[in-house]
Amino acid sequence: MGICYGAQLMAHMLGGIVEAGANEYGKVDVAVDTASKLFEEIPSKTVCWMSHTDYINQVPVDFKITAKTVNCPVAAMENAAKKLYAVQFHPEVMHTPLGARMIRNFLYNVCGCKGEWTMSSFTKRTIKALKEKIGDKKVLCALSGGVDSSVAALLLHKACGDNLTCIFVDHGLLRKDEAKQVNELFGGAYNINLISVDASEQFLGQLRGISDPEQKRKIIGREFIRVFEAQAKKIGKVDFLVQGTIYPDVIESGVGDAALIKSHHNVGGLPDHVEFDEIIEPLRDLFKDEVRKVGLELGMPENMVYRQPFPGPGLGVRIIGEITREKIAILQDADAIFREEIANAGLDREIGQHFAVLTDLRSVGVMGDFRTYDYTVALRAVTTSDFMTADWATIPYDVLNTVSRRIVNEVKGINRIVYDITSKPPATIEWL
Ligand code: XMP
Repeated sequence: MGICYGAQLMAHMLGGIVEAGANEYGKVDVAVDTASKLFEEIPSKTVCWMSHTDYINQVPVDFKITAKTVNCPVAAMENAAKKLYAVQFHPEVMHTPLGARMIRNFLYNVCGCKGEWTMSSFTKRTIKALKEKIGDKKVLCALSGGVDSSVAALLLHKACGDNLTCIFVDHGLLRKDEAKQVNELFGGAYNINLISVDASEQFLGQLRGISDPEQKRKIIGREFIRVFEAQAKKIGKVDFLVQGTIYPDVIESGVGDAALIKSHHNVGGLPDHVEFDEIIEPLRDLFKDEVRKVGLELGMPENMVYRQPFPGPGLGVRIIGEITREKIAILQDADAIFREEIANAGLDREIGQHFAVLTDLRSVGVMGDFRTYDYTVALRAVTTSDFMTADWATIPYDVLNTVSRRIVNEVKGINRIVYDITSKPPATIEWL
């Protein structure tokens, strides 16, 4: 199935003619041939997302035109006998409302897929395969409390029980009560061998006086590896080291811009001084939504499964300027209120990421009869599908109002709250 340039390439290589000069951009009405296997159950008039300047002017021999728009004589073509299909538009974006159905039609009607890749079959197969692979060997896992490492740890626990040891490093820059929740869930409810280290003194000591965000990231990454290695040393050599790598990590660590954009997100990389024979990456083939489904399959609580992404360096990149315990506490409280009210408003699933940022700005305010000179907190909330681009979320004013009142009333040290209304690009999601 050729899409956009793919369609043009297919036409060009098989003897059709591709020409310049039929610009189309945006949502366009398209007429489709409903007899095509690709357009089963699609109305003859529908909408598609176009983005092209060149166009297929003549299809190759034995190809049939199966869709047209006002400006595009070949919006889709096919050679059904050879199972070659092509669309000029983009079925993969949400602006083509029935695009997913077209892709489904291709997979089921043309390729003969049956849709047997379900998360329940994946979970069962993976646990079985891990059991066979691991036997009674030893496995080590770094647990961050994020969705990926949590689901990976649980899968491994089902497969090898007490042969799994998890190390959880609390760098002191986690969200409010997060360390407690991880300890209670994994060490308590799941009864996993958990080594939980409160290393906040060490991290905050190293971060004292540091304001530069890249420096902060480096220090946090370095200390993380140090703490992890020190703990791993106590266990001695293990057979397997677990990584919560998911499919987008596999793509993004590939080549080109994607690798560049994301390079700063790998907190410290792999430890050098942990002795292990092999890495296990049980989630390597899964997208995030699939990882969440596996989590639900394994009985993980929803508030854990639907956690929003949280950067490895944690609140370290959400406190502008020097990091102090006082600032961490202020930010944790403000952030917890923001998240709670977004959840109360039922918005937490549709907003991709939302959090508070503690700016380094203090300004004058009044509280009762007193003048105050306190911090400004910024609220950030974005909708996004891939975190590469993002729109600022249009949170209703009454929700923002509740958040604002609660933060100034309940959190000492804040007298001003601003809402970030920039999209990415040009702004990034995090402030630092
Ligand atoms: P930006 O700020 O680059 O964020 O638009 C895109 C996504 O990446 C997360 N992020 C990080 N994750 N370490 C991480 O593990 C980092 O240093 C880091 N910086 C940003 C951010 O939260 C968002 O989901």
